[in-house]
Amino acid sequence: MNTAIILAAGRGTRMNAGRNKQYLILKNKPILAHSIGIFQKCNLIDEIIVVINQDEEANCRINVIEKYQFNKVKKLVPGGDERQHSVYNGLMHVNSECDIVLVHDGARPLVTHDVIERCLNELRSCEAVSCGMPIKDTVKIIDENRNVRVTPMRDSVWITQTPQAFKLEILLKAHNHALEEKIICTDDAMLVEQLGINVRMVEGDYENIKITTPDDLIMAESILNYKRKFRK
Ligand code: CTP
Ligand code: MG
Repeated sequence: MNTAIILAAGRGTRMNAGRNKQYLILKNKPILAHSIGIFQKCNLIDEIIVVINQDEEANCRINVIEKYQFNKVKKLVPGGDERQHSVYNGLMHVNSECDIVLVHDGARPLVTHDVIERCLNELRSCEAVSCGMPIKDTVKIIDENRNVRVTPMRDSVWITQTPQAFKLEILLKAHNHALEEKIICTDDAMLVEQLGINVRMVEGDYENIKITTPDDLIMAESILNYKRKFRK
């Protein structure tokens, strides 16, 4: 059984909107409703767990889950201080039949069925998958004085996106290990890497952006307009 954990328990500080960016409207719908909608429609997903801020529960239930009839959403789970804690809380509530879990940022409303499918297909031959894309610019690793230390070969540098897909057992092990060792990571793949387990990258989509700052909202709206006009 494939479960998607969709994360919406941040505060959206960099968006500077005075409220959680997940509930900002993007083309007539809250950002979170776009993200959940893609997993709701995807026939590869059996169950959705949404991780939220407790004080936003009523808003999420009424204006997102009920309004758009997301009947695959089985639970709204309270998040934690760090993204990692929010994922952990979600993991504690997956169905007992679940063996594969996908973790997705609610702030990535432009993910597609194809990206989800690529992640799940790849997971048939490994334990952990992240989607991502080859970097377009050259990256510099700098020191504290901004002196360039290393310029990695561009071919081997990818940016990561979500979803990331895991065998449930492996992701649970990675989170428990991180708890014991007091490790905090910015994505789940990194937690698995800490166990010495290989994570495979698959192609995501350059359009699968994370809404982080106000300019991302403009970008997302343009992408949606473009999709509607030229691709449907
Ligand atoms: N997230 C979460 N729980 C946290 C922190 C983040 O569920 N404690 C979620 C966010 O809601 C978002 C995703 O993780 O969908 C990616 O995080 P990010 O883009 O950093 O969102 P925020 O933490 O909300 O934004 P900021 O860092 O600007 O405050
Ligand atoms: Mg954050």
